[in-house]
Amino acid sequence: MKRKQNINLFLLAMVLALVGCGPKSQLAERQNFDKDWRFLLGDDSLAFQQAFDDSQWRKLNLPHDWSIEGEFSADAPATPEGGALPTGTGWYRKTFKLEKPDEAQVFYIDFDGVMANSEVWINGHYLGKRPFGYISFRYDLTPYLKFGEEGNTLAVRVDNSAQPASRWYTGSGIYRHVWLVEKNPVHVAHWGTFVTTPEVSAELAKVKLDIQLENRKETNSSVVVKSTITDADGQAVAEAQNKLDLTVGLSTLTQNFELKNPALWSPENPNLYTISTQVLSSGKLVDQYETPLGVRFFEFTADQGFFLNGTQYKLHGVNQHHDLGALGAAVNTRAMERQLEILKDMGVNAIRMAHNPPAPELLQLCDRMGFLVIDESFDEWKKRKAKQGYHLYWDDWHKRDLEDMILRDRNHPSIFVWSIGNEIPEQFDTTGIRITRELADIVKSLDTTRPVTAALTETDPEKNNLYKSGALDLLSFNYKHKEYLKFPDRYPGECMLASENMSALSTRGQYDFPSDSVRIWPPAYNSPFDGNADLTASSFDNCIAYWGATHEDTWAVVKNNEFIPGMFIWSGFDYIGEPLPYPYPARSSYLGIIDLCGFPKDAYYMYQSEWSDKTVLHLFPHWNWDEGQIIDLWAYYNNADEVELFVNGVSQGRKSKATDKFHVMWRVPFHPGSIKAISYKDGQEILEQEIKTAGPAAKIELIADRSKINANGTDLSFITVKVTDKDGNMVPDAANLINFNVEGEGFVAGVDNGYQASTEPFKANYRKVFNGMCLLIVQSTEKAGTINVTASSEGLDSNFLTVTSN
Ligand code: GAL
Repeated sequence: MKRKQNINLFLLAMVLALVGCGPKSQLAERQNFDKDWRFLLGDDSLAFQQAFDDSQWRKLNLPHDWSIEGEFSADAPATPEGGALPTGTGWYRKTFKLEKPDEAQVFYIDFDGVMANSEVWINGHYLGKRPFGYISFRYDLTPYLKFGEEGNTLAVRVDNSAQPASRWYTGSGIYRHVWLVEKNPVHVAHWGTFVTTPEVSAELAKVKLDIQLENRKETNSSVVVKSTITDADGQAVAEAQNKLDLTVGLSTLTQNFELKNPALWSPENPNLYTISTQVLSSGKLVDQYETPLGVRFFEFTADQGFFLNGTQYKLHGVNQHHDLGALGAAVNTRAMERQLEILKDMGVNAIRMAHNPPAPELLQLCDRMGFLVIDESFDEWKKRKAKQGYHLYWDDWHKRDLEDMILRDRNHPSIFVWSIGNEIPEQFDTTGIRITRELADIVKSLDTTRPVTAALTETDPEKNNLYKSGALDLLSFNYKHKEYLKFPDRYPGECMLASENMSALSTRGQYDFPSDSVRIWPPAYNSPFDGNADLTASSFDNCIAYWGATHEDTWAVVKNNEFIPGMFIWSGFDYIGEPLPYPYPARSSYLGIIDLCGFPKDAYYMYQSEWSDKTVLHLFPHWNWDEGQIIDLWAYYNNADEVELFVNGVSQGRKSKATDKFHVMWRVPFHPGSIKAISYKDGQEILEQEIKTAGPAAKIELIADRSKINANGTDLSFITVKVTDKDGNMVPDAANLINFNVEGEGFVAGVDNGYQASTEPFKANYRKVFNGMCLLIVQSTEKAGTINVTASSEGLDSNFLTVTSN
């Protein structure tokens, strides 16, 4: 490790020499600490000791989620609501050597998140515990480290055995990154900067940077603190410098800057600056700390909705849980980036992090790619939702966890709202008044630049104690879109947000007729319903939960009323767990616009036609039915006046969307052949889409989202697998078992087909296609080379594809 450190130091020193800071500096190092851990699935009361023999334990790299590696079971303690996968207790140990630094340094270990109830030891010394699986935390290692040959051992016990602890899949283990931080004793404190922009106009932005400095020496230390703002091209655009005498312990400093003609941040133009803060002691650089900066201003209004940078702006939002489908909860930046790319393409500009602090990398991606974010702390306060949920830890931990979330996240320009809870039972109890005030005060003590909200279900102001607290700046409501219009009268002068909408159910490629009657599954709490024998739900926007609504009905209300700032679909992607309305083997949700693989369901294109600049024409369903069967055909479209449908070459007429409807429909009998839709604007053809009746399955099609990836051991290629007939038409009900062989510098990271009731494992080299498709996720090793992927299936032509890893 020391060797690597020296190389990094050397590179940094070179860079600094070039910018004139002097080459010989003791620089802060933040080193990724994910590699070469030992893992035990189980418990061992002696494993905290340094001398413990872990040589028989499994070797692995983090981030790691042991649940996703397990088998589905109806009896899993987490229950199908938690994903029907195993949980339990596990241990992680990492042994590492450090060379004695030339000058005294301090060392920290940073965990981005451990699910759950982690306890950490260094060389047998107990460092502490953190029950909340979504929180990031740091321990000071300095007093316990050993330098030289003897080495050090970190031991982490993870206890996710008390179940059910959540209403969705959590994963288990050290599922986010770990960092070893080495610093000069004089440095910027942990989460030690806070950037705000007290004044912003097109001509000028005033930027304020509050810095907390830590002096861990035994004497005062005089330092120069210099912060430079650089723009996206790396040009320095503003600077501030202060000299100060740091007493022992913590000190604060504020630096002010002016940015002329600032490039404003928005989802459409996510312009970012970076503030680099350098701490110099006797002319030597001793610490360097980076703070992201996005200059933007926004406002919620009671009558005109939301304004971003002075312009009225509709929030096209989704809710997202944290799992990454077949990869489970184990953080992977590329997998998160892909999710965001798919959402961006749909026209999404906002994300609610349901219902917990996300991985830091996800927020960095939202800053960079342009998404407004509601950062949410809790799904549970003191009152129980899940039997073993957060309420058990509430008294001891809520203050610390909420503070840590705000401190960690408050520099992200993407975050525009803090949510202190989701559908909190204390809405119905007067204790809700006190707790809401307490939590809002905690947030306000650390950040007054963003509104505090909570996602509410009780819409009667007389009955909602969170509202009655008077402490919420913004009232967020889940569902009940029919009541939105009453809102201005019920809550005069208050700003609202639609934080959760729809909960419409669907399975990719599944269609129940007639398409224009809505199934409510279940129709009421605990009431029986028919459902489909194969545990699917129709993708015609005609299946909803009883508290839910169709996409079209909800969007019509939000679109037509300017006081509603926008909406947040529940949910962007399907997620593991909460498989309502079905029992096991259903084990993942039906509520996404995009399935667990990342394959869009049909409603995706409705939103794309309304929310994005893309010209859309999406005709569905497929054209493989029983002879004579009556079939509804829908088309979502935009940038056109009308759409004409042809069945086997015969026009079925042109249709236009009715007011507040976002699709057109034809009802026709099936005869094999083809269907074709053409959209027209002012009589001119805009787009055309044809679907042919597929013949018997014959071939496998492989489509990599990226055929060149990085040889960094973490990058991924997502390979879509389709079963087609001999002419390349996807077979819409194909269920062939595909076997994968991956050779060279890559390996299978996961497989999936998006079917919510599949009990096939996510970690395997085979998968059945579901409704014609499945997904293979290939991960790079650290060696450059080629990754050769072969897909084969009995009775089908095999196919292969090469991914290059550099
Ligand atoms: C909401 C809840 C979400 C999810 C959703 C499913 O009430 O806030 O977490 O459970 O229902 O429809």
